[in-house]
Amino acid sequence: MTVLVVGGLREEHFASTLRAVSGDLEVRVSPNIGRKEDIRYALAWEPPPGLLKTLPNLELIVSVGAGVDHLFRDPELPEVPVVRFVDADLTGRMVEFVVLNVLLHHRRMTEFREQQSKVEWKYLPEPASHDVRVGIMGLGVLGGAASQALAKLGYRLRGWSRTEKRVDGVDCYFGNQLDAFLAETDVLVVLLPLTSETRGLINRNLLAKLSQRGRDERLPGPVLINAGRGGLQVESDILAALDIGQLYAASLDVFETEPLPETSPLWRHPRVVITPHCAAESDPRAIADYTIAQIEALRRGERLKHVVDRTRGY
Ligand code: NAP
Ligand code: GLV
Repeated sequence: MTVLVVGGLREEHFASTLRAVSGDLEVRVSPNIGRKEDIRYALAWEPPPGLLKTLPNLELIVSVGAGVDHLFRDPELPEVPVVRFVDADLTGRMVEFVVLNVLLHHRRMTEFREQQSKVEWKYLPEPASHDVRVGIMGLGVLGGAASQALAKLGYRLRGWSRTEKRVDGVDCYFGNQLDAFLAETDVLVVLLPLTSETRGLINRNLLAKLSQRGRDERLPGPVLINAGRGGLQVESDILAALDIGQLYAASLDVFETEPLPETSPLWRHPRVVITPHCAAESDPRAIADYTIAQIEALRRGERLKHVVDRTRGY
């Protein structure tokens, strides 16, 4: 039984970990594919378009990430099940990222850093967490877990999803209730998948609908945190919103083009925090265990977990 590791930055690391934890799997790393007929499974991030369809015995594609938009960039992706990565380690990392960045802006850390650079000792008022309304777009595995961690810190939570949901301690909105959700949100956390429906959603129109009124006056304006995908956002609109004060600050982990081009004004904006798509990386040991568990389930003829719905795109 052979697995092909393909299309990512850390293929060799993933492959060596898979070899170390699996007894009977042969692990190959693209482009050293060898005899194509041997390959039954692919552990893939962004495979070269058309490559996977040349593997005649492929039975399963495991996504190295929780998101799968990178896989569907291949217009000829074979019609075998695609499972995405759902894992406690990855979820924990994303929860840390979201909590860190909500606190960072709520507690005005970019302003304190700026004051520090000028050796300036100046008090800035900050609201209580229970006066800050955090709205999470995407109430799935990651958004749901982030909402629970933020609720424990006292924030007021609301969330928006495609279908109706019930989540403890969260005011849930769905579908066409987006405007009502935005009107009640001070800190917008984006944890949506990138699909044909969500592409470009974080744009000028949407940002203008965030609550500008009713927030605690000590939080200078709405905040955007995007750890979903860069294709969800229109960066020129985010910059414009920051410039006219419609947004107070932003934390962006994902970008329209990655790496973010040096020329992007986002790099130099004092209220923008940039991280290089590392909010929640896939741990090699966790992805190896997950891949093996999925392969074993397939071999036993069990129903696979976390299978991507190709029509929805996530
Ligand atoms: P998930 O469990 O599939 O949850 C996705 C959520 O988005 C669901 O609540 C879904 O609604 C909602 N949604 C999808 N399309 C929508 C639409 N058109 N309108 C409204 N809501 C919509 O996914 P997840 O595991 O939480 O991961 C979310 C995303 O995070 C991934 O797709 C990936 O892009 C990103 N991610 C980024 C990093 C990073 O390091 N930056 C790491 C991991 C993941 P329903 O509940 O109604 O289906
Ligand atoms: C990372 O971006 C992921 O989708 O897991």
